Amino acid sequence: MGSAIRCDQETRLRWEEEGFRQISLNKVAVLLLAGGQGTRLGVTYPKGMYQVGLPSQKTLYQLQAERIRRVQQLADQRQGTHCTVPWYIMTSEFTLGPTIKFFKEHDFFHLDPTNVVLFEQRMLPAVTFEGKAILERKDKVAMAPDGNGGLYCALADHQILEDMKQRGVEFVHVYCVDNILVRLADPVFIGFCVLQGADCGAKVVEKAYPEEPVGVVCQVDGVPQVVEYSEISPEIAGQLGADGGLLYNAGNICNHFFTRGFLDVVTREFEPLLRLHVAMKKVPYVDEEGNLVKPLRPNGIKMEKFVFDVFQFAKNFVAFEVCREEEFSPLKNDDTADRDNPSTCRRALLAQHYRWALQAGARFLDVHGVQLTEQSGMLPNGDPPAICEISPLVSYSGEGLEMYLQGRQLQSPFILDEDQARLLRPQDC
Ligand code: UTP
Repeated sequence: MGSAIRCDQETRLRWEEEGFRQISLNKVAVLLLAGGQGTRLGVTYPKGMYQVGLPSQKTLYQLQAERIRRVQQLADQRQGTHCTVPWYIMTSEFTLGPTIKFFKEHDFFHLDPTNVVLFEQRMLPAVTFEGKAILERKDKVAMAPDGNGGLYCALADHQILEDMKQRGVEFVHVYCVDNILVRLADPVFIGFCVLQGADCGAKVVEKAYPEEPVGVVCQVDGVPQVVEYSEISPEIAGQLGADGGLLYNAGNICNHFFTRGFLDVVTREFEPLLRLHVAMKKVPYVDEEGNLVKPLRPNGIKMEKFVFDVFQFAKNFVAFEVCREEEFSPLKNDDTADRDNPSTCRRALLAQHYRWALQAGARFLDVHGVQLTEQSGMLPNGDPPAICEISPLVSYSGEGLEMYLQGRQLQSPFILDEDQARLLRPQDC
């Protein structure tokens, strides 16, 4: 296992350099899993179109598109190239139409549309707890996408690996739509996996507490896999290791590295071996009078494959630890839940940008014009003491901000977008 937190600076830079080198050679693609129905968040449109209330009002899709543009630009600056990171987006019957429409309306967020490839996963029937079909209309059985592990069938159905091959893509970063801090095509992660000769990899964060509802990346009888939180007994989840921390502490954050070669073998040979998992979900249905009912509690079972169930087939699997505060804040629930909701996502991103600005030498005045000091901590609700949002087009992971922010006193709320960056840039740059 590698770690972006526990390694020395030189090693990290070596991984990053390798990642950028591969990106500049057009060998890296990103693949978004966006076929989920987002029932817990409870919106009627794809989750990527959600905006969590940032000052810029950017949606998850826009943040991701802008990170792709920035990582391409950084690779080009280093290597003197003009590279492309293609964006593959797996959708489902529910999300394909609205996602295409949204991308068109937003001019593909200034990405070249030929480098954004949308494809659709398969569906499976949803059933009641007794195993009976659920009717979504009088004449239609309720269907649900076949889980994010439906990826492997969908890749084959739509010849996506051939498309990757034609473009020269060798390495694929697969990620979930809902992590607002996701680093697309993260050069450090890509570089680490490539230098390790891995065919399959997973980013992990240290589990916060034994009952935390994240899957754990571990080995079972020497075979790498993710064990879901629901499948671990409280005793095992609470076991401590020699260092006093949790023994099974590698929390899965759905950021995976695959070589194209590995995906090819999986789709051709191993896909039929993936088992179906059962998920209890709210499935809308028609009652006997023909009225559509949207249940408030789970009333049915969806059968899903999981994207990480292929880890067992890897020849060289690696895990890579990253800092949770910097890289993981998922949008799962609406604001009535106390975690993983729009507010926690917004705070996580704004807190990160406030940290980046301070590290770059900025000082802040709060909304009332009061000077904040180094000691001004987060507010009791977790908000940073000043609001600062930095466009991904200006900084991907906190880099390059000194030239705009060093020694500056900034009034909250402060948005550093491309226009603001032009104003703040020193004349000689
Ligand atoms: P989740 O397991 O959080 O499911 O998906 P969800 O559908 O988004 O939300 P709930 O459970 O209904 O509230 C994790 C990731 O896997 C994708 C989702 O879009 C998300 O990026 N996913 C999930 C698919 O691509 N296809 C699926 O069939 C299921």
